[in-house]
Amino acid sequence: MDKKFYITTPIYYPSGKFHIGTAYCEVLVDSIKRYKEARGYDAFMLTGLDEHGQKIQTVAQKNGLAPQEHVDNMADAAKKLWELMDIKYDKFIRTTDDYHCKAVQKIVQTFLDQGDIYKGKYEGWYCMPCENYFTETQLVDGKCPDCGREVIKMSEDAYFFNMKKYEPWLKEFYAQNPNFIVPESRKNEIFKNFIEPGLEDLCISRNTFDWGIPMPNDPEHVLYVWLDALTNYITALGYASDDDTLFKKYWPADLHVVGKEITRFHGIYWPIFLHALGLELPKQIYAHSWVVMKDGKMSKSVGNVIYPEMLIERYGVEATKYYLLRFMSFAQDSIFTPEDFVDRFNYDLANDLGNLLNRTIGMMNKYFKGIIPTNISARTDFDDSLEEFTKNQITKIEENMDTYHVSNALVELWAIIARTNKYIDETEPWKLSKSELEEDNEKLKSAMFHLAESLRKIAILLTPFMPGTSAEILKQLNISSENMNWDLAYSDNEIKENTKVIEKGEPLFVRLDKDEEMEYIKSSMKK
Ligand code: MSP
Repeated sequence: MDKKFYITTPIYYPSGKFHIGTAYCEVLVDSIKRYKEARGYDAFMLTGLDEHGQKIQTVAQKNGLAPQEHVDNMADAAKKLWELMDIKYDKFIRTTDDYHCKAVQKIVQTFLDQGDIYKGKYEGWYCMPCENYFTETQLVDGKCPDCGREVIKMSEDAYFFNMKKYEPWLKEFYAQNPNFIVPESRKNEIFKNFIEPGLEDLCISRNTFDWGIPMPNDPEHVLYVWLDALTNYITALGYASDDDTLFKKYWPADLHVVGKEITRFHGIYWPIFLHALGLELPKQIYAHSWVVMKDGKMSKSVGNVIYPEMLIERYGVEATKYYLLRFMSFAQDSIFTPEDFVDRFNYDLANDLGNLLNRTIGMMNKYFKGIIPTNISARTDFDDSLEEFTKNQITKIEENMDTYHVSNALVELWAIIARTNKYIDETEPWKLSKSELEEDNEKLKSAMFHLAESLRKIAILLTPFMPGTSAEILKQLNISSENMNWDLAYSDNEIKENTKVIEKGEPLFVRLDKDEEMEYIKSSMKK
């Protein structure tokens, strides 16, 4: 297969429990990966943890654990969560993995050999108890923003990467590749704030703490966490190791998905590091927006954090994934509200999708003893219109997914569900069933056939987003999920003769009591 697609999530800091913001990124990437697979790509998804740095060392200390012990526990927890969320990643990298540390040292050695790195002085405001540097603007009333104590101006020896040397190249690269970062607004931000004013050289080492990868030439210094972290995208594939088969197969990445606040690292430093190594650049970076709450960012101290486990336990993994993918807009921060969550569950999932399946199964049993009619002789305009509408919608879903507008793709998919529900109202099977006319009986067959066909198509189109629901729909219709490739959603005649649907289908989603569930979600935020 020569169509490959390499997609990555950011690697997360294992500093605390993951909330739905972190989970969103994972679900988003998983849906794009599954979509590409459905379209015939050999897709590879990378995720993992960014385990070094002072922040992690401090959290571990607070928990009374050695840093390695702490990150080991967190890696287990992260893998458990992704399993619970049915995330189909291919590789989970941890930056404490031996192969990664060795490869990073080789990469840094290359930079040293090329003269990209020089020794200088790192200056800033230092907080002794926190062992941390801050810039002038980060201070709060001239004091440490973390503990509020006095800070002192200090400087230490440190290594720097000569970014300025690569500035002309970077500008030329963006001139040639204006769509390297999407959405455009994110690219404009880093241009205005960092590229146009002129690049600063980047400090790439610290010697005030030791939880990091040592500089190969000077082990008193550990590497700045971002150099360590960014290179994960290539070390995970075996770059600079004995076996770089995966690297040869999948690099360059087709898409790095990152949160908006880390666009700078991916849009400036990462391209420069890669260029300095003589490697190809990723094809694109999608900097997504944030999940926010009515009162701003999610934070434990405000008591407005939503954890994915709570939603999954109560509403199921499929509904949780659907909501995250549907409510988050492509470019703007989106507000999570308990009300909206319950409404979408009730309207989109229980009413629109759930009822469509339930009514179809019910009617199929009532009118045809559960056997889906085939060899249809009477076609109506409604049939033509439903089929044509669906084909158009599939193209729109593809256009949106090909540009990573996942929420819009779901809107277009739900339009097929709404159109199919409308088809029931148009064809009025309950009236046709009462008619004595042979012609009406043929029309009834056609209506039931088309309903089953439409649900089959919907099941295929749902696979990237809600694979469990897709499988359940096919199970209730008794349609084999083997060979259910995307292209079959374009086809109108795939149901085999004598297919007998389930006698009594379980509802896919049971309607929620709005007040009760809103209260439940709100109370969970305080825990
Ligand atoms: N370790 C770095 C990434 C290194 S990538 C080479 C990091 N980690 S993080 O844990 O702080 O954040 C990981 C990702 O989670 C980021 O992309 C960030 O944008 C995302 N999110 C954190 N909170 C979020 C929301 N509330 N909403 C959406 N995404 C959010 O940065």
